[in-house]
Amino acid sequence: MDTQKNRHQAPKILVVDDRKENLFAMQKILQVLHCEVYVVQSGNEALSYTLRHDFALILLDVNMPEMDGFELAELLRSNEETKHIPIIFVTASNKEDQSVFKGYESGAVDYLFKPVNADILLSKVKIFLELNRRNKELEAIQSELERSNESLREFAQVVSHDLKNPLNVITGLSELLIARHSADMTPKGKEYMNQISATADRMNHLITDLLSYAQLNAKSVTFGNVDLNEVVMNVISDLSSTIEHNEGQVIIQDRLPIIQADATQMYQLFQNIIANGLKYRRKEQSPIIQISLLEGNEPDTFVIQIQDNGIGMKNEDIPSIFTPFKRLDNAKAYEGTGLGLATVQKIIERHDGLMEVESILGERSTFRVHLPISQGF
Ligand SMILES: Nc1ncnc2c1ncn2[C@@H]1O[C@H](COP(=O)(O)OP(=O)(O)O)[C@@H](O)[C@H]1O
Ligand SMILES: [Mg+2]
Repeated sequence: MDTQKNRHQAPKILVVDDRKENLFAMQKILQVLHCEVYVVQSGNEALSYTLRHDFALILLDVNMPEMDGFELAELLRSNEETKHIPIIFVTASNKEDQSVFKGYESGAVDYLFKPVNADILLSKVKIFLELNRRNKELEAIQSELERSNESLREFAQVVSHDLKNPLNVITGLSELLIARHSADMTPKGKEYMNQISATADRMNHLITDLLSYAQLNAKSVTFGNVDLNEVVMNVISDLSSTIEHNEGQVIIQDRLPIIQADATQMYQLFQNIIANGLKYRRKEQSPIIQISLLEGNEPDTFVIQIQDNGIGMKNEDIPSIFTPFKRLDNAKAYEGTGLGLATVQKIIERHDGLMEVESILGERSTFRVHLPISQGF
């Protein structure tokens, strides 16, 4: 659908009445509006018009021979293509009709009494046109969003295959060179080889992080029951070589809850925060990370606190650490992409939670993740 074109088109109104003089009168009143007015004299004609045009509104005479206004409205409501079109019934004041209108509460429906008062007609029509304009705008935004999500998905696809594959070749070959041919190399040659390997490793990390971040924007969240004890145990076991290498400890002080969440995203969340805690350690101190459960401020929410004893941050820097690619000065000596906490932030948002951070420079950082136990649908 060409939304750009639709947005600038004058809205179309269909007037259905079996009497020519009524159609003529309506047309005359409606001509002050910036819209295209179509008039037909029967329900059958109206049906065929609605299939060919996108009407913002139908003004429908209730009393017509053959197919009356209510029958036509039923037919329009039963068709996917036309069921959204608002209808204003035009009727002689009659109690019976009014009770029928009540049956249409769900749809955008209104009614007018004959003889039609021009001011009332115009004000009702304007309300429906405004509604139509807003719906069109919403549709345009929606399809724009879908387009941009689609291009993000494509981007992720391109990144994962077209960039990662050649990079894997570089990594693989440089490892092979170091393993099998380093005896033939000069010390300088070996140094360059190691640099190539380390750089390829860094690029690999960057691509992985970019991919996780981009996919978060594009993918919908799949909520299921997630046992956070399991999630944290998996993270710790996957980080075990880093923990050993740093002579670190990750201490889980409380049993964690089982919550409604996206399991993969919960893993990413804890992986990033715990890995940061291990990474941003002080030189003289082996890293200790403590994970505890605190009560939430609101019912059915909880808080998981992850505290480290690392390099810490200045208070004024804390808000910026969730910005993609942002890395603080005291972290520049450590490897990183600056995408971890941006990803964490997005995951928390998608779970309707929030993040609190406290830190003392040179001493410790405390991350508090607030999450609801269940997700309202
Ligand atoms: N536990 C921590 N202790 C000290 N600084 C941290 C900690 N976690 C994050 N930071 C700061 O926040 C920045 C952003 O973190 P992150 O998004 O995970 O990126 P990365 O770790 O790749 O640099 C880091 O570069 C660092 O400056
Ligand atoms: Mg990180």
